[in-house]
Amino acid sequence: MTEKKKILRALAGETLDTPPIWMMRQAGRYLPEYKATRAEAGDFLSLCYNSELAAEVTLQPIRRYGFDAAILFADILLLPQALGADLWFVTGEGPRLSTIETQADFDKLSGVDGIHETLNPVYETVRILRRELPSETTLIGFAGAPWTVATYMIAGRGTPDQGPAHKLKDENPALFDQVIDLITEGTIDYLSKQIEAGAEVVKLFDSWAGSLKGADFDKYALEPAKKIIAALKAKHPDTPIIAFPRGAGERYVGFAEATGADCVALDDGVTPEWAAKNVQKDGCVQGNLKSSHMVTGGEELVTETRKIVEAFGKGPHIFNLGHGITPDADPENVQLMIDTVRGK
Ligand code: CP3
Repeated sequence: MTEKKKILRALAGETLDTPPIWMMRQAGRYLPEYKATRAEAGDFLSLCYNSELAAEVTLQPIRRYGFDAAILFADILLLPQALGADLWFVTGEGPRLSTIETQADFDKLSGVDGIHETLNPVYETVRILRRELPSETTLIGFAGAPWTVATYMIAGRGTPDQGPAHKLKDENPALFDQVIDLITEGTIDYLSKQIEAGAEVVKLFDSWAGSLKGADFDKYALEPAKKIIAALKAKHPDTPIIAFPRGAGERYVGFAEATGADCVALDDGVTPEWAAKNVQKDGCVQGNLKSSHMVTGGEELVTETRKIVEAFGKGPHIFNLGHGITPDADPENVQLMIDTVRGK
């Protein structure tokens, strides 16, 4: 019998001697081999839709570092594109999409039924990965959470304060709710297909949850996550789900229980000591080393890594960064973090 994978054991609530580890954006521009494959693909979106090459870049950090999990190479903005939004990436700046300002803009989008035609290459990437990953490595699928995806679909780009999405929410809640509901439905279908293709865990990225306050946090971060998780659990009860309401702060408390998530991913805005006491008491947590340590390295990286391992050592924990690794990171610092976590 093969032994259960470490990430799945932690997600089932087991406290392990050494926490399993992976890293957000582990396939990315800090790796020379990623840049080479991306150049071969042409551009970022062509890479996402080229199943062979997307699988290749997913495997690169596994070969180099032996992480305990691989995360499917794709992007949270592929779903809006599948729903009919225009999407392109401006080098050095980030994503651009058609905007949603009026009901007419929303009505131009298509329903969820047609999304798989666009997203089929992503499911094929998942199938290739399940064949090619080492037997001890867990494959994580993902999608953006409705609020975060809506911020991009409404503004047509990344925004520092999510201003356009807040404005639509406050001035035209009926239209805003249609946007959230469409993304929620699409996300359920998208993640179900990833699981059916072989994803063993799925993660919901709510990168901009921190800008939702009070009742808005409940309505647009917590409720959609709860709906998506309930629908996925009804179809795929054995697939663990990680929720990442980045910037939630105090609202991390009770988030797993309220949404049904098996694990919450913590950003670096909360201390591991606080989170161990207030969040990990309810189950598995993931996180939360500052990404900047992957740039600066040294003794501070080692000290902060040890602090996190120690603080979360009495409960289920998956080691990760608090957010994605940045392109200016040094690949050697990643190895130093892994060696520190694994006690080498
Ligand atoms: O983590 C991984 O290695 C898996 C792949 C992955 C990517 N994006 C690849 C990517 C995942 C899980 C994402 C999620 C994602 N995409 C989020 C949520 C997580 C977060 O970072 O908060 C968001 C908000 C996006 C949207 C997005 N994609 C933006 C804003 C950008 C531009 C910023 C940037 O870093 O350039 C992207 C591009 C992107 N997505 C890159 C990668 C590797 C860089 C593209 C390139 O190669 O030029």
